[in-house]
Amino acid sequence: MRILFINGPNLNLLGERETPIYGRATLDQINDKIRDRAREAGVEVVFFQSNHEGEIVERIQKAKGQFEVLVLNPAAFTHTSVAIRDALLAVGIPAIEVHLSNPARREAFRRRSLISDVAVGTISGFGEESYHLALQAAIRLVAKKG
Ligand code: DQA
Repeated sequence: MRILFINGPNLNLLGERETPIYGRATLDQINDKIRDRAREAGVEVVFFQSNHEGEIVERIQKAKGQFEVLVLNPAAFTHTSVAIRDALLAVGIPAIEVHLSNPARREAFRRRSLISDVAVGTISGFGEESYHLALQAAIRLVAKKG
């Protein structure tokens, strides 16, 4: 089983960016832990981060036929990107939307997600644990299908 983790803009700054909201762990530290847990579960994980909408669209397009599940934190693009939404619909790979914070508890403009209704589900508000919960959800999703 192969799972692709995609992280959007400014998530390369985790660990230094708005730490009361996003925590002190860097993206590399989060990904290392995910890789360890995935290895224990016998699952292959690949990580991709970009600050550019088009690069994220291209990565999703290239994932077709290569990955069983996408775990996606589109970051600010969550609230704006028709292109990322359309890419998910185009490839048809089940996607789990992830957020470190709980956007529903923040500014009004974060309450709208263009991704949620094309994702299998959304996990938000648990800090870096959101990614671990998403990994578990992704593994169960594939197990159920198989
Ligand atoms: C975020 C929430 C978004 O609203 C924000 O733009 C981010 C991070 C999160 O993980 O909590 O950059 O996706």
